Amino acid sequence: MSEETCDVVIIGAGPTGLSAARRLRRAGRGVIVLEARDRVGGRTWTEHIDGQMFELGGQWISPDQTALLALVDELGKETYPRYRDGDSVYIAPDGTRTVYSGEMFPVGESARTEMERLIGLLDELAARIGPQAPWDAEDAAELDSISFHHWLRQQSEDELACENIGLFVAGGMLTKPATTFSALQAILMAASAGSFTNLVDDHFILDRRVVGGMQSVSVQMAEELGSDIVRLQQPVRRIEWSETGVSVSTDDLSVSAQQAIVAVPPNLYSRISYSPPLPRLQQIFHQHQSMGLVIKVHATYDTPFWREDGLCGTGFGASRLVQEVYDNTNHGEEQGTLVGFISDVNADAMWALDEETRRTKILEALAEFLGPKALDPRVFYLSDFGAEEWTRGAYATSYDLGGLHRWGPFQNDPVGPIHFASSDIAAEGYQHVDGAVRIGTATAERILGEKS
Ligand code: FDA
Repeated sequence: MSEETCDVVIIGAGPTGLSAARRLRRAGRGVIVLEARDRVGGRTWTEHIDGQMFELGGQWISPDQTALLALVDELGKETYPRYRDGDSVYIAPDGTRTVYSGEMFPVGESARTEMERLIGLLDELAARIGPQAPWDAEDAAELDSISFHHWLRQQSEDELACENIGLFVAGGMLTKPATTFSALQAILMAASAGSFTNLVDDHFILDRRVVGGMQSVSVQMAEELGSDIVRLQQPVRRIEWSETGVSVSTDDLSVSAQQAIVAVPPNLYSRISYSPPLPRLQQIFHQHQSMGLVIKVHATYDTPFWREDGLCGTGFGASRLVQEVYDNTNHGEEQGTLVGFISDVNADAMWALDEETRRTKILEALAEFLGPKALDPRVFYLSDFGAEEWTRGAYATSYDLGGLHRWGPFQNDPVGPIHFASSDIAAEGYQHVDGAVRIGTATAERILGEKS
């Protein structure tokens, strides 16, 4: 076991850990980043599959994600807009396919009115409650004790409106069934994106991508830090701590430091053993933040054929196997790429199938939106973060029903010299790369005494 010393040891080389390391290095602090995988970037992962570049993890940036946009700019990287010229496709619960333009799904007048009313209601709640401390709202306990599914049905008797609004947070963001997370958690999601209106607006929320892929942001930060600082294939197993410092151990390395930042997703906090054990509060609430599950479907075709049909590639269907599909053609490529999402129970069902049946069912689901040409991709691949030991789900973690108001107030508290940072406990940019950059930088600034 080799032994090393630094000022701050960081566990995890995702965008949170690397942003923290970068900020601390700028202030002249000695830093070591220990990363379990053989690559940096965590849940951002740009990979070539059969010669085709895919964004297996996080990729989109919205205009309000100014911390990430500033970082991308500072690193000298370019962004480009998602292709969205043309009409979208909506598939109703009875399977009816409608081509439409504009923001609102082409549903009947009453469902449309109800959807607009629910969006307005959620906008008001998001504006009032905000992303910083949703647990402080006077009705926080009440909103945290009812599932988003049941809360929607308390507000409206229109089942289609409830299902469509539920999709934006359940399948679309938290990737858990709407019965399993609270209305308060849904409001936090909206507040962290600026408003519920922003969440339902794919032009806003899925605005831009990074040329060369989102992982390149982390790769470049790691290159700047250097391999003396960022150590790969170093899964942290144990943290020994006292009020004055930490000793962090992997299988073959022990790093002593004054402080540590645990920059791993909250569902993995308990995979590390702490000596002495963490206080009762952390031991309890670390069990109540769990990952959602989504399959990100990638399919590349010789051409973006849907554009010839006047379609932009966007499709929605809250009751379908693939609930959302978008044109995900990479910058400068002639071949066309689609990305689709299959979440929670539908993802379980897909992983239970053999590979050939799974592929057939998923391609048929894409074809429902964009026609039979979708059945025959040149390259087809499914992102499987559920099978990744150092993530265990996608996109991010959220609390059980009732957990956000009960434990949220403590989630950012350090324990002695141990700080916890993750996009999943960020306020603005919650569950996104932008939140990772914000909380990584803010945690470093707290250590530097620049932030309370
Ligand atoms: P992240 O999980 O990225 O990094 C944590 C790091 O810690 C990992 O590298 C891991 O290997 C390491 N680690 C874990 N345990 C360890 C241990 N014991 N020892 C050492 N290292 C350890 N966001 C967005 O802004 N736009 C988007 O379009 C999407 N889309 C999206 C799709 C998919 C499929 C996923 C999975 C995620 C997204 N996201 C996203 C979310 C985004 O990717 C996520 O919010 C950030 O990557 C979080 O960054 P963190 O650094 O906090 O965690």
